[in-house]
Amino acid sequence: MARGGSSGLSRIETSWDVSPATLDLLQGPASIVNLMGQAEWARDLAKQLLAKPLPRRWAHTQGVAACAETLAPILGEESDLLTSSAWLHDIGYSPELVDTGFHPLDGARYLRDVHQADDNLTRLVAHHSCAVYEATERGLLNALNEEFDQESPELVEALTYCDMTTSPDGLPLEVLDRLAEIHSRYGPEHLVSRSIANATPCITSAVRAVQAVLRQE
Ligand SMILES: [Fe+2]
Repeated sequence: MARGGSSGLSRIETSWDVSPATLDLLQGPASIVNLMGQAEWARDLAKQLLAKPLPRRWAHTQGVAACAETLAPILGEESDLLTSSAWLHDIGYSPELVDTGFHPLDGARYLRDVHQADDNLTRLVAHHSCAVYEATERGLLNALNEEFDQESPELVEALTYCDMTTSPDGLPLEVLDRLAEIHSRYGPEHLVSRSIANATPCITSAVRAVQAVLRQE
């Protein structure tokens, strides 16, 4: 899996017991990323893009990633992918990479074009939290669907569950309270509020589906 580009990881930060000489034999930062695991790379990249310019968005992101980690028992091997997507789902808000202003598409394009990120990861970011509804409002539905296929429903629902049950400050929140919070934050006339209204059945059914699986655990 290609996860090229800079991870922002220094030798001092790595917890791996690897000597400097061994590191010199590796093929640059991408190899270190491969040793780290995708979620750690994703966390460092999200922190780099969000923590300073958008501290509240960074707090939310940390809460979404914490939620994703709690789903490991029901996701098994796909847990690392979900947690990675949770770290990266909102990087499209970063001033460094805003392009269209539609954050799922901007974030996914950045991951694909700058970091040659894993296709599964870019698809999750592109379609997170029923993004097709806001894409429709923005006239970007064709671009979104042509560039990024849908990921498996289980992972899409899991990411939506985590995003839509985490407050802007990173705290757990009931999905209906989260939806109401978005409406009040943007105001009734805003494109995002219209999109969220149309996406509400998609979002709530994803959240309920994950909650149903969790209850069986
Ligand atoms: Fe989010």
